[in-house]
Amino acid sequence: MKDKVTIHTLKRFKQIGQKICMVTAYDATFAHILEEAGADVLLVGDSLGMVIQGHDSTLPVTMDQMVYHTAAVARGARRAHVVADLPFMSYQVSTQEAVRNAGRLVAEGGAGSIKLEGGAEFADTVRAIVRASIPVMGHLGLTPQSVHKMGGYVVQGRGEDQARQILDDALALEQAGAYALVLEGVPMDLARTVTQSLSIPTIGIGAGVECDGQVLVCYDLLGMNPDFKPKFVKRYANLHGSITEAAGAYFAEVRKGSFPDEEHSFKANKNIRLAASAPAARVEPAAPADGGEKMGPVYGRPA
Ligand code: KIV
Repeated sequence: MKDKVTIHTLKRFKQIGQKICMVTAYDATFAHILEEAGADVLLVGDSLGMVIQGHDSTLPVTMDQMVYHTAAVARGARRAHVVADLPFMSYQVSTQEAVRNAGRLVAEGGAGSIKLEGGAEFADTVRAIVRASIPVMGHLGLTPQSVHKMGGYVVQGRGEDQARQILDDALALEQAGAYALVLEGVPMDLARTVTQSLSIPTIGIGAGVECDGQVLVCYDLLGMNPDFKPKFVKRYANLHGSITEAAGAYFAEVRKGSFPDEEHSFKANKNIRLAASAPAARVEPAAPADGGEKMGPVYGRPA
């Protein structure tokens, strides 16, 4: 196994011009697969509110849910850095609450850092969390927790004033101690300017190729939802098609009675004949003398 990715690895990647590969993960199996595929950073995004829970925004996601999913991802990851989102209203009310909730993601969830949305107005919050020895990733541009303020999911920083604000916010977050920054839904020229103005890495989503790294929601890049086709997502697979085909084949065999066949069934040790009779006194199952047929784990936990 290669060395564990840390926030220092990511800063070095920027210095040597190595692109950072970040992707969302919400469970141990996906974390394991995505890490094996080469992910440097696994983001337990509050996007889980939409792609896992089926809400139409990230706003209903709770701290307990974030801790639950972060712990699952951390169990599946060995090398990748795990960063977890602070959900809506877990850090906006007070700095104290922000530090405590960031601490939960690390202590209970096993995250290596946390991410929060917002600019200079959260500089003190970032500072306080960093002071508690918890690394912070910022998130600027299209910030989904501010969907109502933005009036929808709208590209940010197209005009000069907004672009200047985003650059100022980026500098403020770096000053406050953030170790990296997600830039979401901003023009590529602005992302380039921000990237060149910072010593910490920028990670883009819908922000062009000149960020120091890229992030996508794993379900989007894998093509799990054929109806979701935003401009910034490239589909690298059609898992919706593969899953539909595979599950359809399974259902067809079940209906036909051809699954499970002999290969997928167990046999008794001897030719035992059991006639239906009046129920006998209950006998507790004892360990078979030959040790029984070993199956290994019953469900496919990532190795
Ligand atoms: O919640 C999320 O998944 C995110 C990324 C898409 C950046 O914040």
